[in-house]
Amino acid sequence: MLHNKEFERFKRIGVEKDRSYYIPFASDDVVKHHYGIIDRQSSSRFLSLNGEWEIKQHENIDEVDIAESLSQKISVPSCVQMIGFDKIQYINARYPFPVNPPYTPYDNPCWHYRHTFNLQKKDREKYYLNFEGVDSAFYLFINGKYKGYSQISHATSEFDITDFVVNGKNSLDVVVLKWCASSYLECQDKFRFSGVFRSVYILKRPEKHISDYFFKPDIIGDEGKLYFQNESEVDICLEFNRTTAFVKKGESVEFTVKNVKIWSAENPYLYALTISAENEIIYEKVGFRKVEVDGKVFKINGEKIKLKGVNRHEFSSKTGATISIKEIVKDLKLMKFLNVNAIRTSHYPNVPEFYALCDKFGFYVMDEADLETHGAVALQGEYDLALWSDYAENELFSEGIFQREKTLVERDKNRTCVIMWSLGNESSFGKAFVKGCKYIKNRDSRPVHYEGLFNAKKKYYYTKYVDVVSMMYPSLKIMRERVFDNIQETRPYVLCEYTHAMGNSCGDLADYWEKIYKQDQCFGAFVWEWADHGIKTKKGFLYGGDFGENEHDGNFCCDGLLTPDRKLKSNAYEMKAVYGGKIKNSVKDINIPIQESKVKDIKIIVDERNGELSSLLVDDVEILKSPVRLNIARYIDNDRNLEKIWKEKYNLLGCRQYVTECKKVSNGYKLKCFIASNCHSPIVEFDLAYLIEGVSLKIEVAYKVADFVKNLPRIGLEFATDNRFSDFSYVGFGPFESYVDKNMACEYGFYKANASTNYDNGYIRPQESGSHYYSLYLKVDNVFTVTADNPFSFSVNPYTTKQLCETLHNYELKKNDFVNVCLDLHMRGIGSFSCGPELDEKYEIPKKGKNVFIFKF
Ligand code: GAL
Ligand code: MG
Repeated sequence: MLHNKEFERFKRIGVEKDRSYYIPFASDDVVKHHYGIIDRQSSSRFLSLNGEWEIKQHENIDEVDIAESLSQKISVPSCVQMIGFDKIQYINARYPFPVNPPYTPYDNPCWHYRHTFNLQKKDREKYYLNFEGVDSAFYLFINGKYKGYSQISHATSEFDITDFVVNGKNSLDVVVLKWCASSYLECQDKFRFSGVFRSVYILKRPEKHISDYFFKPDIIGDEGKLYFQNESEVDICLEFNRTTAFVKKGESVEFTVKNVKIWSAENPYLYALTISAENEIIYEKVGFRKVEVDGKVFKINGEKIKLKGVNRHEFSSKTGATISIKEIVKDLKLMKFLNVNAIRTSHYPNVPEFYALCDKFGFYVMDEADLETHGAVALQGEYDLALWSDYAENELFSEGIFQREKTLVERDKNRTCVIMWSLGNESSFGKAFVKGCKYIKNRDSRPVHYEGLFNAKKKYYYTKYVDVVSMMYPSLKIMRERVFDNIQETRPYVLCEYTHAMGNSCGDLADYWEKIYKQDQCFGAFVWEWADHGIKTKKGFLYGGDFGENEHDGNFCCDGLLTPDRKLKSNAYEMKAVYGGKIKNSVKDINIPIQESKVKDIKIIVDERNGELSSLLVDDVEILKSPVRLNIARYIDNDRNLEKIWKEKYNLLGCRQYVTECKKVSNGYKLKCFIASNCHSPIVEFDLAYLIEGVSLKIEVAYKVADFVKNLPRIGLEFATDNRFSDFSYVGFGPFESYVDKNMACEYGFYKANASTNYDNGYIRPQESGSHYYSLYLKVDNVFTVTADNPFSFSVNPYTTKQLCETLHNYELKKNDFVNVCLDLHMRGIGSFSCGPELDEKYEIPKKGKNVFIFKF
């Protein structure tokens, strides 16, 4: 029998004691670096087992025979679903299996991996096999003999295989399960991948060797203190700052550095520390930084701080949860460019190299445990906080939670960049947490963060185990009520998630930061999230539901500042501006170019049934490719929570225009119109006039939104013109798309643009884009210019509103033989309501309004 159902328990079996991450070198190794950090491949004690392995998929672990021959090859590390096994699935807050902890379903696919390797086995040398990440659990056999079982997807599992390996050829068999008891604690919002998704290697070590150490930097006045604890069974020698020290096993030593150079995100100065024993050297880096909670204020290096943060998942559009160091470095460089100084490792510890890179580049890291029980709220259909809390109270999970806190802290404790421990994400709070919390508190003084208190029983809210109060997606009002005006709240405050960057989003950044800058108690905020999760295919990016999943959450995974392949969206530029300190924008005086018109003759045809302008002939040339009509629809992901009303109830997109009065005047038409869909009284009533005045056409619109209609997305004119006219220029907020609440990346000015680049935004799910707020002038080259009595928003795009509302993937957008023009009297704000708070009222479109658009040709 291969197993005793270990996968329905929380124990890890045969795994070495958790320790800090390091790679030992032999004393005569030539240490190489890459990306500014140590290249572990240059250690002769490091034997990588990454590469081609054999694999076979089974429907259930009972079918596995350790001696069987394996039919296929796989490259390790990787996610099996990314190479054709099983099925890719994206799901957010639900367990994608029948929920009855700790049991797993019978149809629980598993993958039998095998790898053979050569080892020159030496006397008095020990061999440690390390798995840096396997999702979700695995059994390990060396040369056919059972060695152990491990779980916690994002934790390192180290096995002493000395007695199992032989000199020469060895084989290891790994049986990976898709689900295990731990899956109840790993319900994170992401593609649910499986497999040996991080590196595997062997460390060859002396018989007696360093096992662990803990160094704690501190700053007192202008001195740096380095307290070093030897947690090994050997005596060791340290070299630090031109001093040598010997530390006996289990003992400690303290170094003092006069005029210490301080480490910070802006200036990440690192000192070298070498730790040696028994012909092994470990090369460490130490940064002197001090993290304190001083009353309500969170301080770094003695000063109050604002964390300009992002949440980052480990995700690659080509390889899923397996990512390369090159990809991490690219992210970190982009973050520097975007003025980010802090990263939350949502929602699990990242690969070890990530932290070395953050030490080096300078980032404050909120290091989060691999823990989320979000699925517990959905167990009985409705969202039920009591069920969530039952999980957190259930002793069944206590061991599992404890190990997650422990592995987090033990592996990363020596990293300078880590300034806070996060207990996990969205798992409520209760008795099952106590052991894990105590462990962290006993071990380290860095503050503990946890947002889940909000979903827990009230009595836990001020628990002593959590040092900072954290919220996700609060409105400014809630922030004020629950924190700033709440005298009971004496903890520093952070927004672990805010401004949900899904599609065209982040309209609320400037308003948030206006508040954050003013409140010392608030030490920053982390945007949700860094990059979209979308799977790259030849046709384009795919998301939930595109893989035939029964349960999925659609494009809710495409909610990043960047595209999956790391192109910056307007959201990212908006953040860059706000993180750079800009929270106000202003309109400048810009000279509007004067248009000389050579036109002699303008003729119009108005459809008297609906008031649409169906023809506009200028010197006998037709300008319109579709009639000019009122448009009150749009789609952005942030409107998804309003779609029930806008789409299903009012059918804004299907609304049609009707005329109640039509008057012909000498130079045109004056009409009274309304717009409505079946079953409803008019949504908007409006007066409309088309008047030819000399060489210009005036279109006047004066509207009133019906009382029963709340928050329309926009109100304006839409029409199409020939796609030969796709270059345009304007006076407004540019060059990025801009909205009433999203224009910090922009400056007010005169810009030239083109329809195709104006809709080139990286949105995987097409949506409203390319609008320019507060415009006073638009010239579509070689056809017309528009000015207006009042500032307007406009876009000149290759697609219609209808296309952008109805098309589900970017690659499905059909090319047109026209360009589409929207002239909006008002465009509703962008906000971040796809997950964030409702749009602030001041960004809603007014109930009444008027504008006069003056076209010249
Ligand atoms: C939060 C959660 C994140 C993500 C986000 C929505 O509730 O912590 O993991 O799901 O919402 O995109
Ligand atoms: Mg969640």
